[in-house]
Amino acid sequence: MTEYATITLDDGRTMKLPIVKGTEGEKAIDIRALRAETGYITYDPGFGNTGSCRSRITFMDGEKGILRYRGIPIEELARRSSFVETAYLLINGELPTSDELIRTSVKLNDHSLVHEDMNTFYRNFPRASHPMGILSAMVNALRSFYPTLLNTEEEFEQTFLRLISKVRTMAALSYKISLGHNVEYPRPDYTYCTNFLHMMFNSPVRPYKVHRKLVKALNVFWILHADHEQNCSTSVVRSVGSSRANIYASVSAGISALWGPLHGGANQAVISMLENINENGATISQVLRKAKSKKDTFRLMGFGHRVYKTYDPRAKIMKKYCDDVLKKLNINDPLLNIARKLEEAALSDSYFADHNLYPNVDFYSGILLRAMGIPTNMFTVMFAIGRLPGWIAQWREHMTDPEQKITRPRQVYLGYNKRSYVSMEKRGIED
Ligand code: SDX
Repeated sequence: MTEYATITLDDGRTMKLPIVKGTEGEKAIDIRALRAETGYITYDPGFGNTGSCRSRITFMDGEKGILRYRGIPIEELARRSSFVETAYLLINGELPTSDELIRTSVKLNDHSLVHEDMNTFYRNFPRASHPMGILSAMVNALRSFYPTLLNTEEEFEQTFLRLISKVRTMAALSYKISLGHNVEYPRPDYTYCTNFLHMMFNSPVRPYKVHRKLVKALNVFWILHADHEQNCSTSVVRSVGSSRANIYASVSAGISALWGPLHGGANQAVISMLENINENGATISQVLRKAKSKKDTFRLMGFGHRVYKTYDPRAKIMKKYCDDVLKKLNINDPLLNIARKLEEAALSDSYFADHNLYPNVDFYSGILLRAMGIPTNMFTVMFAIGRLPGWIAQWREHMTDPEQKITRPRQVYLGYNKRSYVSMEKRGIED
């Protein structure tokens, strides 16, 4: 039975608006009829209080620090699953059978090469180009090499497997080319994550020794990043798709949105912040003072979240893997000690407690990536590879949702009222 909210407008009119309910008890006021019936719109900059869709993919509870992909807790997936299996779960809605997993892995391998003509593009980017700008451009370029539309289930599956496999190869390829080194090709006998580390770090003069602990840590890193309901970049992917732009253009736009330091770019910004403390001797209290000052635009990177008002469950897992991997590899990274002290000081500071600011996924992720040997300017690319299955799953859900239309929000206009054109002559401009 439908429940309703009743609003009373400033002119005394009232309107009943239906309540939409989620499977975890969340409730939303359906305002789709609001403007037609009252002429009013709602106002919610950043959409922090606005539901853009109904989704079956990921559930988050920001107050309790809960994250589940298709109902399965992130903690269980990190402990027991692989990135490829989690990608399958997000996109198809169920964990794969053994045959489905084997078939997916074979197809990922089949799609793991990048068209040789793309190497020419990579070789012509300036060496100092940021890998996120390259990745966004090259993912868009994939459409030119693979113009197949997504008319059938099989074509969709082929396209998403191609994207997931090639984006990983493209990331490693762009790293090798940035070093002026030859490209390392994927190996058919390696798994998805092992192949990435191989393509990144193998060289003819120093064969890369695969480390089981690092492969597990990379699987966990990408599982933790695989989806996060309607975050900024996912909303962009959905919005671009809503105009019926193709999936490559939609994902390319998502990569661009993720690049920002307030979003996926935070993992790189955290390391710069920690290095700054380590090299310039800034004290923890000086950093916290800057972060709290309203006169300073500096923020404590890796802290705070639009949804989580408690510890980000992914950050807890990431922190544990930092400890494990660095211990196993016998790495003593001074940045990890600084991060721990920063976290301890912030969590006991009333400003952060009052603003519900806790470590998010980006606070420790950079330290884990450093331990793997990933260069800092590729940290957000690593986030993008992980988020790809989520973007694909969300894009497809949007494209197949009968309730969805092209994204087109409204505005509250604060500009001039009607006024006339002033002739050039009156403005002293010679004709
Ligand atoms: C990701 O949405 C997702 O799901 C994203 C993500 C995903 O998986 O897709 O989880 C990935 O983007 C994680 C977030 C990475 N970004 C950072 O770590 C950058 C630092 N954090 C922020 O800038 C901030 O916390 C945001 C952007 C993450 C969230 O900002 P909101 O929800 O828009 O909150 P806000 O900017 O309005 O801040 C509310 C208050 C303000 O103070 P007041 O003016 O109310 O007094 O909290 C303060 C802010 O100044 N604040 C911070 C702070 N974050 C918020 N103060 C100091 N340091 C911070 N990090």
